[in-house]
Amino acid sequence: MEKIHVCSTADLSPGESRRVDTSPAVAVFNHDGSYYALADLCTHGNASMSEGYIEDDCTVECPIHTARFCLKTGKALTQPANEDLATFDVLVEDDEIYVMVPEGAAA
Ligand code: FES
Repeated sequence: MEKIHVCSTADLSPGESRRVDTSPAVAVFNHDGSYYALADLCTHGNASMSEGYIEDDCTVECPIHTARFCLKTGKALTQPANEDLATFDVLVEDDEIYVMVPEGAAA
């Protein structure tokens, strides 16, 4: 696995998300001070989950057709998405956020 720098914790406030240009891209979310990372591309279509809406129940809603995914597990919870999103580990070290991606995924 490769450790990719995302941003500082000061640059990702609760309720915000950020796209990381790995290949494939990853979306990192801050939900109430906890960080989660999912595949950025919605499993239903060509939507960037980093542009989705973080909900109170620790889910993210796709910005195009409003399918919801669990931020913790990537599970597709509502239609029209049927396939889960991949998840990635997030690390915080010295107030900097990193995501762990497979070897070779760094852009
Ligand atoms: S593109 Fe995400 S639900 Fe359709």
